Amino acid sequence: MSSEIPSQTSSGGSARVLLAWLWRGYLHKHLGLLGIALIFMLIEGSMVGAISYMMQPMFDDVFVAGNEAALRWVSLAMLGIFAVRAVAGVAQKVLLTRIAQLTAADLRLDLLNRLIRQDGAFHQTHPPGFLIQRVQSDVDAVNMVWRAIITGAGRDVIALVILLGVAINVDWKWALLAGIGTPLMLAPAIVAQRYVRKQARRARDLGAVLATRLDEVFHGIVPIKLNALEAYQSRRYRAHTDRFVYAEVRASLGTATIPGMVDLMAGIGFMGVLLYGGAEIIAGEKTVGQFMSFFTAMGLAFDPMRRLGAISGLWQMAAAAIERLKELMEAPISLVSPENPVPAPKGVPEVTLEGVTLRYDATTVLDGVDLRAEAGKTTALVGASGAGKSSVFNVLTRLVDPQSGTARIAGVAAGDMALADLRGLFSVVSQEALLFDETLRENILLGRSDVSDAELAQVLDAAHVSDFLPALPDGLDTPVGPRGSALSGGQRQRVVIARALLRDTPILLLDEATSALDAQSERVVQAALEKLSGGRTTIVIAHRLATIRKADKIVVMDKGRVVDEGTHEELLARQGIYARLYRLQFDKDADAPPPVDAAPVAVAPVPAPENLWRRMLGRVAGRG
Ligand SMILES: Nc1ncnc2c1ncn2[C@@H]1O[C@H](COP(=O)(O)OP(=O)(O)OP(=O)(O)O)[C@@H](O)[C@H]1O
Ligand SMILES: [Mg+2]
Repeated sequence: MSSEIPSQTSSGGSARVLLAWLWRGYLHKHLGLLGIALIFMLIEGSMVGAISYMMQPMFDDVFVAGNEAALRWVSLAMLGIFAVRAVAGVAQKVLLTRIAQLTAADLRLDLLNRLIRQDGAFHQTHPPGFLIQRVQSDVDAVNMVWRAIITGAGRDVIALVILLGVAINVDWKWALLAGIGTPLMLAPAIVAQRYVRKQARRARDLGAVLATRLDEVFHGIVPIKLNALEAYQSRRYRAHTDRFVYAEVRASLGTATIPGMVDLMAGIGFMGVLLYGGAEIIAGEKTVGQFMSFFTAMGLAFDPMRRLGAISGLWQMAAAAIERLKELMEAPISLVSPENPVPAPKGVPEVTLEGVTLRYDATTVLDGVDLRAEAGKTTALVGASGAGKSSVFNVLTRLVDPQSGTARIAGVAAGDMALADLRGLFSVVSQEALLFDETLRENILLGRSDVSDAELAQVLDAAHVSDFLPALPDGLDTPVGPRGSALSGGQRQRVVIARALLRDTPILLLDEATSALDAQSERVVQAALEKLSGGRTTIVIAHRLATIRKADKIVVMDKGRVVDEGTHEELLARQGIYARLYRLQFDKDADAPPPVDAAPVAVAPVPAPENLWRRMLGRVAGRG
C-alpha cells in the first residue's frame, strides 16, 4: 500500500488473542447484562426448534388424522411460540445494543486519553484524520462484529442444536445424510478466512487514509481555493476511494464465500434426504408429518447456519479492526512524567539550556545550545527561519526531549518534574492562536470556575479584549466559531494573551506573537504582551527587531547554535549579524520582494554579508 499513512505492522496477533483483549478490557465488565442477553438469545433460538417440532402434530394429528382438539392446541401453541420468540428477540437486541454502546464509549474514551498524551512525534506520523477514523469507525467496526458473533454464537448455535435434535429424533439416518456436504466446506473456509483478514486490514488502513485526506482538505479549504486546487484534491480523493472500494469488495468476496458454501452443502444434503426419505414415505415406512418436521428443521437451520458460516469472516474483520486499535493503545509514549517527580520551583525562575542537542533523524536542529534567561527579565531569540528558535521552546516545555543536554528551570531539570507541573510554569503565546468552537468566555476561562468577574474584567482590559467586545453580538458569550474563525488574527491573539494572564505563570514564551498582524493590531497586541511579561521570566522570539530591542538580553541563533548574545546596544556595537540584521530592517530597500531561493547562510560565527542580506531581505518583505 503506497499511502502517506505510516504502514503499521500487520502481523497483529491471532484473532483469538485480539478478541481476548477486547473481552478482558471492555466486554468483561458487562458480564451480568451479557448473561441476561444470552438467556434471551437461548429462548429465541429454542423457539425456532419448537416451530419445527410442531410440524409433526400439525401434519399427523390435524391434517392426516383430522383431530379437532389437536387443531386448537397446535394453533395456540404456535401463537405462543412466535410471541415468546418476538419478546426474546427484542429484549436480546436492546440489551446487546446497550452493552455495545457502553463498550464503544469506554473504548473511545480510553483511546482519547491515550492519544491525547502521545508524543509530538507520534502525532506527526499519525495525522488527525487518521486518528479520528480509528476512534470513530474502527470502534464501530469492532462493535458491530462482536455483536454479530455473540448473537450468532448464542441464538444461532442453540437453534441449530435444537433443530438437529428434532431432525435426529425424526430419523438419525436422514440427519446424517443432510450433513453429507459439510466436509466439502472446510478447505475453502480456511482460505476465505485468511483472505478476509488481509482485505479487511487493507480496507481499514485505506479508510484512515481517506479520513486524513478529508481532514486536510477541510482544514486547508482557504489555500485550496486560493490556489485553485479543487480539481487536484478531488482527483487525489478519488484515487483513494477507488482503492478503498476494491478492498471492501474483495473483503466481501471472502465473507460471502462461506455462507455460499453453506448453501451448496445444504443443497447436497437436501438432495440426499429427498431421494432416500422420499422413497421411505412412498413405501409407507415414514409419515408425511415426520417428513415435514424434518424438512422444517432443515429449512429453519439454514439461516442460522449461514450466519454462523459468516461469523468466521466477521471474526477476521473484527480482528483487523481490533489489531489497529490495540496498536494505537499500546504505542509507547516516551515523553512521560518521571517516576519520582521533583516539585516545581516556586517564584520567578531563571531558565537555562545546558549543551542541548536535538536531532530529528539525521537533522541536527539544536547543536549544543547554552542559553540563560534571567529570572524576571526578557530574553529575545533572533535568527533566520529554521535556526532552531521554536525548538528551544519545545525543549523547555518538553514537547520534545533533546538527545543530550538539559533544560533547567531554577536549577531543576525539566525532565525531573511531573509534566503537568513543568507545563504549569509556562504560558506560551504563538502565532497559532488555538481557539475552540465555544464562546469567548469559555475560550478564556478554559474550564476554570475560580475566576471572579472583577478578575476577569481586569484581564480582559489588560489583554485589550475589552476593546473589541462591544462589537460582538453577545459580548463574552459570542461563539468564536471553529478554531476561532469568527475572530480576526489580532483578536484571537488577544484572547490567548487573556488566557495567559489568567494562568499567571512565572515564565512566558512568546513565539512571533505579533508577526501575522497589521501595524495597528500589532501595537495593541504588543501593549497587551508588555503588560503580560511584567514580573515574569520572558523569552520572546520575534523577527521584527523593533519589538525586541527593549529586551534585557538578545540571543542570536544560527543553524541550531547560539552565535552571539548581548543587549541591543552591545550587539550593535559589535557589528556582527545582529547589527546587519537591524540595519536591514530599517532600510527602505527592505520592502523589495523576497528572493525566490534565499542562499543559505555560512556556518557561524559570522555569515557572509551578502547572503545574510539576501536572507534578511526575504524575511522582512516576506514575513512583514
Ligand atoms: N518535528 C520535526 N521533525 C523534523 N524536523 C523538524 C521538526 N521540528 C523542527 N524541525 C526542523 O528543525 C529546524 C528548526 O526548526 P525551528 O522551528 O526551531 O526553527 P525556527 O528558528 O523557529 O524557525 P522559524 O523562524 O521559521 O519559526 C528546521 O530546520 C525544521 O525543519
Ligand atoms: Mg519558529
